[in-house]
Amino acid sequence: MEQAQMKLMIPGPVEVDPKVLAALSEPVEPHYGDAWVKKYARVIDILRQIFNVAGKNYDVYLMVGSGTCAIDASMSSSLMRGEKIIIGNNGFFGGRLIEVAKNAGLNIVEVPGEWGKPLDPQAIKKALDANPDAKAVSVVHGETSTTVLNPVKEIGAIVAASEAIFLVDAVSSFGGIPFDMEDWNVDICASATQKCLGALPGLAPVSVSQKGWKTIDRSFDKGHSWYTNLQNWRKYGTEWADWHPTPVTMPTNNVNALLVALEQLMEEGIENRIQRYRSLALRLRKGLREAGMEPYTSDEMLNPVLTAAYAPEGHKSGEIIQYLLNEHHIQIGGGLGHLKDVVFRIGHMSPVVTEADIDRVVDALKAF
Ligand SMILES: Cc1ncc(COP(=O)(O)O)c(C=O)c1O
Repeated sequence: MEQAQMKLMIPGPVEVDPKVLAALSEPVEPHYGDAWVKKYARVIDILRQIFNVAGKNYDVYLMVGSGTCAIDASMSSSLMRGEKIIIGNNGFFGGRLIEVAKNAGLNIVEVPGEWGKPLDPQAIKKALDANPDAKAVSVVHGETSTTVLNPVKEIGAIVAASEAIFLVDAVSSFGGIPFDMEDWNVDICASATQKCLGALPGLAPVSVSQKGWKTIDRSFDKGHSWYTNLQNWRKYGTEWADWHPTPVTMPTNNVNALLVALEQLMEEGIENRIQRYRSLALRLRKGLREAGMEPYTSDEMLNPVLTAAYAPEGHKSGEIIQYLLNEHHIQIGGGLGHLKDVVFRIGHMSPVVTEADIDRVVDALKAF
């Protein structure tokens, strides 16, 4: 099979613009010095706009690692072993939050939700009321396993009324779905570059509120790693800001590629980009129905960057995936957990996905 003809439409990593890829083959440069500091500042500046914290008292860092690195950092930087965290779990990645918290030795209060349904903010409130000693609440924004968007704003309003901080995994939504740290009362948001930003895997944007820092800066022995300790990212981001703004060697080519993707986003406009993703989602949903493959969630629960649909009667979703791959050179994703054979997932979270790509998938599905 010709690699060049393959259309990558999995729920991340995504296909990227050739100009983004081209930045990878530029000569390697140092991760310090005037030119680098200026470029890096521009990256952070654009990320601040996407977190909607431009000019606000929030910090933004670009960690080196996948999204899980940032999630790890959000939990282990702020909570001590044995401390209580409330975790909303309505999908595979909610379960992943629980695993990360377990690994950090945290005392987990799970608020189970139903796969395919958004988390119930009142259930989080009940858990907070019953556990006033909880130091944090954590949820996933876009639950990639089911495509469900959780009501982060509503949950954030509840958490804000308590002492707990609010940790959000926006790995598969950041840059493709509106996000607002302040309005949604998010204290630490963990994200990644290989999905809606249209860049490559390996970098993880993080934003931290002042309430987040207050919890992080309590003086105790957290016993977590130096690398994922957000205090170290802040220390170098301030003390060495004018020459070497990060605690570790940055993958400069990858950051340069991200900058190309971010400048493209600025050129298009965040709102326009988000609207474009949304209209692609609607187009795909219409086509899926015409193909007799009902979307997994209702249109009211539309995820603008990711759509799951049921395999037709008598077929496993794996058959659809193999068919698209082998006969149409389109790679989509399968279901996770108990949805493995039941649904397939089509990612349209890359800025290079067009209406013609959506039509190509739909036409192929109609011919199944
Ligand atoms: C919602 C969500 N959280 C976390 C992750 C894990 O991210 P990574 O694989 O970049 O570590 C993913 C990956 O797909 C995700 O979709």
